Amino acid sequence: MSKATGYIHDIAYPAHFHREIQPLWLGTMARFLGSAAPALSGSYSWCELGCGVGINLLIAAATDPQVQFVGVDFNEQHLAVARSAAEFIGLSNIRFIRADFGSFARDNNLYFDVIVSHGVWSWIDPAQQQAVLQLVQQFLKPRGLFYLHYMSHPGASQMLSLQKLLLELSRGQQGSSAQKLETGLALLAQMDEAGAFHDQPRLRTGLQTLRQQNLAYLAHDLLAEHWQPQHSADMHRRVSQAGPVYLGSADPFENIDNLSIPGNLQPLLAQQRSMAVRETFKDVARQQHQRRDLFQRSPARLSPAEQVQGMDSIGFCLLPGAAAAGPLSFETPIGAIEGPSAIFTPLLAALNSGPVSFAELRTLPAFAGQLGLLSQSLLMLLWAGHVHPVAATSPAATPQLQRLVQWIGQQKLALQLVPECATAVHVEL
Ligand SMILES: C[S@@+](CC[C@H](N)C(=O)[O-])C[C@H]1O[C@@H](n2cnc3c(N)ncnc32)[C@H](O)[C@@H]1O
Repeated sequence: MSKATGYIHDIAYPAHFHREIQPLWLGTMARFLGSAAPALSGSYSWCELGCGVGINLLIAAATDPQVQFVGVDFNEQHLAVARSAAEFIGLSNIRFIRADFGSFARDNNLYFDVIVSHGVWSWIDPAQQQAVLQLVQQFLKPRGLFYLHYMSHPGASQMLSLQKLLLELSRGQQGSSAQKLETGLALLAQMDEAGAFHDQPRLRTGLQTLRQQNLAYLAHDLLAEHWQPQHSADMHRRVSQAGPVYLGSADPFENIDNLSIPGNLQPLLAQQRSMAVRETFKDVARQQHQRRDLFQRSPARLSPAEQVQGMDSIGFCLLPGAAAAGPLSFETPIGAIEGPSAIFTPLLAALNSGPVSFAELRTLPAFAGQLGLLSQSLLMLLWAGHVHPVAATSPAATPQLQRLVQWIGQQKLALQLVPECATAVHVEL
């Protein structure tokens, strides 16, 4: 653990790919949310704060060579992996900068169209959080997007005391953070067997899931000194003081209020006018435990006609393993939602013959005069991993892409690259 920041340094965080922070995904979400997204094609600049071993940047940089990518992290062990991968793959559009966020905010002179940070905010101390906001305030260009992931109340609140117990237990111990965590998890398992959590079934299930996860990942997750879930309303206020305003979630399902909130709560939600109340209401209704929030500096809100025009050019395609026809059953955080065949079969059939634009999908008889239904159905297919936006220009089969596939194989990462969508999908090894 670093004495200065209270964040773990002694073991490396494993590579984790998040489709939600990829450029094409974020640009598409901004358009679904009714905002004029920055033109995320051609040459623009992208920064990930707390990039770890850089897997998200490596995939983005190899699939879009015109864009300049910057990854910032203070862990040299992580950046050594990231840099040697970039060299092996042959990427010249990516830079990894070793710095904590405070030093980066002080020394940086680069401006970015997009700043993203995943798995970082809830684990860092208040001064480092302030530095993240300072970076956003000073270096995010007008119309720029800011993606921020954080742990959220009330879903993550139940972990507060357990995390404190694990942290305090780790202080008096010798060994690596992974070993300390293993001891802590063994204690929690013993407490569980002795009945400590008998009235908290969700917590018990959560603990069982924890025991199956990678110890290095969990040590970063659970042994940070400043671990703290947030209230979304507080986060939105803080970020807006730095400039960008809240657009919505990078998680498509969470943008569909009439599906992601149980039906009997809908009339109560409909009465709420304040955004802070609505977002907190939704967090409570969904037992939200993490958020993937998307903000934009000085967004230009589109009229419905402008929004459709912006959406029309977006192409969509099926991802490996996609369903061929409806009906579909979506396993959502609030339970199973049935997707009728009348909606999903024509949509999947249209996509089956190759990439199809939103404009073309609008002409399907199943969606005649029902743009909202088409948008929601596409969002559900995106969320469930059946469908993805396609890149405006399909990347050439470059040597970099081949070497990225090779590197993913060498690292034994359970990922399959999908270059035409500038993304990767999780697969079984
Ligand atoms: C949990 S990992 C997340 C990595 C990656 N973003 C992901 O989602 O897979 C958090 C990363 O943030 C880095 N980090 C934590 N505090 C930092 C700070 N104050 N300055 C720079 N990097 C930091 C850690 O070294 C680590 O690589």
